[in-house]
Amino acid sequence: ESQRYKEAIRKYDELVQTLPGDDVWWTRHLYKGFWLPSGGLIGHLLLEDHHFHSKPTDILVASSPKCGTTWVKALIFASLNRNIYDFVTHPLITTNPHTLVPFLEKCLYRNENTDSLPSPRLFGTHLPYTLLRDYVKDSGCKFVYVCRNPKDAFVSMWLFLNKVMSRYRPTEVSLQDAFEMFTKGASIFGPFWDHVLSYWNASLEAPYQVLFVMYENLQREPVAQVKRLAEFLDTPFSMEEEKAGVIQDIVKLCSFDNLNNLEVNKVESNSDPSTTIKNHDFFRKGKVGDWKNYLTPEMAACLDQITAEKLRGSGLSF
Ligand code: A3P
Repeated sequence: ESQRYKEAIRKYDELVQTLPGDDVWWTRHLYKGFWLPSGGLIGHLLLEDHHFHSKPTDILVASSPKCGTTWVKALIFASLNRNIYDFVTHPLITTNPHTLVPFLEKCLYRNENTDSLPSPRLFGTHLPYTLLRDYVKDSGCKFVYVCRNPKDAFVSMWLFLNKVMSRYRPTEVSLQDAFEMFTKGASIFGPFWDHVLSYWNASLEAPYQVLFVMYENLQREPVAQVKRLAEFLDTPFSMEEEKAGVIQDIVKLCSFDNLNNLEVNKVESNSDPSTTIKNHDFFRKGKVGDWKNYLTPEMAACLDQITAEKLRGSGLSF
């Protein structure tokens, strides 16, 4: 198996070199209509090559980057494990959500043994549904897709990538250049709208398998949304739990203010030394509508227009 893996990686590394791509904003490759970073692409190719054995109990937290992945990973981890941990010594207090809920692509890329993980296995993924579907869907596993309005998602992505990339290359990408790329679809795991629609359509076709969650709704009514998540994952809260305020405890534990202020998520902690991303980078403002502090009215109107066009007829709007 290890030899098969090594050969696959060598083959994919070679393939990745031959694909159209650029390194303006983030090393990425256009593959089957999506702009994937090398790790994401190789993760997908390993899936295609059957290096992952999905199980019906698997749960995937899917998202386009910067749409609330960290938050939903924390909320689902806390909800599923609510009978195992108390809220005083909880793993989320000492461990970043991305360590507790690793990205599937990353596990595959690093040849981590996922078979022996206890069920339900909980993974994150930034791959669009179209690139995952054939390898995991038939197992009956569940997807929770978290989505966010494209203006906030874009601003959050631009700031995040510039910050992370400034640690290994000096030049920043201007807001204008990043905006142009984003509107043309050339964003990390983009086009943003195609990514969203891949899961939106899946959630309409198979609502028991794909749950669509909006960041803005999580902000507005976290308790109702956590209840919805738990019901979807077949672990609804009992009346006793509701009366005891368990949902509120989970919401509080996973809140931006709480996670952002934990020692493990402070500036210098880095749970993953193979990247320049630090735990703190996943927490910036955690607000709805911060795009107003960055985008001009023209930029906002342009994004709104693209969004309206792309989502027309889908039943989805922001
Ligand atoms: P901002 O940059 O707008 O602040 P992701 O987790 O997908 O990388 O998304 C990161 C975005 O979610 C950032 O948005 C970040 O601040 C916000 N975020 C992280 N943890 C959060 C939480 N617990 N509650 C609300 N927002 C959170």
